[in-house]
Amino acid sequence: MPNIQTKSLELVKFPATFGDYTFEFIATSLRDEKLLFTTYKERSFCLQIIQRESNFLIKGDKLTRISPVSIIQNALKSFAKLHNLTLTFSNIETKNESQKPKGDLKILKNASYFEKDFKYDKELWIEVGFGSGRHLLHQAKENPNIQFIGLEIHRPSIEQVIKQCKIQEIDNIIISDFDARVFMQLIKSNSVGRIFVHFPVPWDKKPHRRIISKSFIEESLRVLKIEGSLELRTDSENYFAYSYETMQALEIYELNIRKNHDLKISSKYEDRWKRQEKNIYDITLINYNESKEKEPTPKLTFDKKVNFADIKKRFTKHIVRDEDCFVHFEEIYQASENSGMIKLSLGAYEKCEHKYLLFKNNMVQYFPNVSLQIVQNYKSHQKIKEFLYVK
Ligand SMILES: C[S@@+](CC[C@H](N)C(=O)[O-])C[C@H]1O[C@@H](n2cnc3c(N)ncnc32)[C@H](O)[C@@H]1O
Repeated sequence: MPNIQTKSLELVKFPATFGDYTFEFIATSLRDEKLLFTTYKERSFCLQIIQRESNFLIKGDKLTRISPVSIIQNALKSFAKLHNLTLTFSNIETKNESQKPKGDLKILKNASYFEKDFKYDKELWIEVGFGSGRHLLHQAKENPNIQFIGLEIHRPSIEQVIKQCKIQEIDNIIISDFDARVFMQLIKSNSVGRIFVHFPVPWDKKPHRRIISKSFIEESLRVLKIEGSLELRTDSENYFAYSYETMQALEIYELNIRKNHDLKISSKYEDRWKRQEKNIYDITLINYNESKEKEPTPKLTFDKKVNFADIKKRFTKHIVRDEDCFVHFEEIYQASENSGMIKLSLGAYEKCEHKYLLFKNNMVQYFPNVSLQIVQNYKSHQKIKEFLYVK
């Protein structure tokens, strides 16, 4: 993260503008952590000002990070000039880097893309945890009329597959790094032909981390077309037995089981298990139901007035838990009697979001943006409202 360091710092009065940057206000926590709310051409983010024993460190705030990084570098430059700082360290020299978005942005999509912009003009096939991507790339080449979505949380694997898509000129794959256990919520009912889960991590000691669960199976059935299939391939007898049992508990099902059946393509993991002479199990769950369209999750908005001074009195760092979601109230920052910020994390245990609540003019909003409209986030949002609007 870009940062500068200086031995002495006397803050000017805010708001203050230098060049394209306006430093709006400082919000300070009880531990004296300072967030400087900054705007650049209608985009907002924070700088952090940290007083250390012998110097001050000023850096971009991770949670509100915006791109390209040169915006933060230039904000730090403006901050330094505004305060006439003598810097003892700086890594903000903007290289002659290209400002255009990288080519991979076409393939790698964030979760809100699926919420708002994804076009359902082709049949979808989804691969969960594609790893080295052998199977995904193979299927995409064999089935050019299908739109593939690859889900993976391991960054190097994602980069490798993006590179391969470019080299092999494959244009029917998009990738998301969103956790597969909550991703399906973003997909329309009856739109997917096949879901592949090949060699998922068995998580024998932490079963709650498994991809396959009752709720994952239910969501998979909802997104599958009639005769669409959820296909699990595993070398783990435990995982096989657990998945079989979980699927069998459904009201209606057709399950097909195969042992040591070769596919046209073998993944890196599969090769390893075969060398160790392990058995390979396939379970295919077929969907025969037309599912109702998912009720849209209500918007995560705050419409009632709030009193920041009162909230500050009541604020303690704490966690509110529910069955499938939580809110962690992490820190409060005061800007003035009636304005400030709360740092929190919220949402699904599997995939939480980190946000600030920004309190201004007796209103509150999420910053830097509203959380994704998924069920767990909405439930956490209700918990936040309970805290904010307590009588
Ligand atoms: C054992 S590897 C198997 C990779 C590949 N399917 C294969 O057969 O070679 C499991 C993969 O699932 C990914 N993964 C684990 N949990 C995930 C999750 N919740 N969402 C998406 N991917 C996940 C891991 O990063 C890893 O690449």
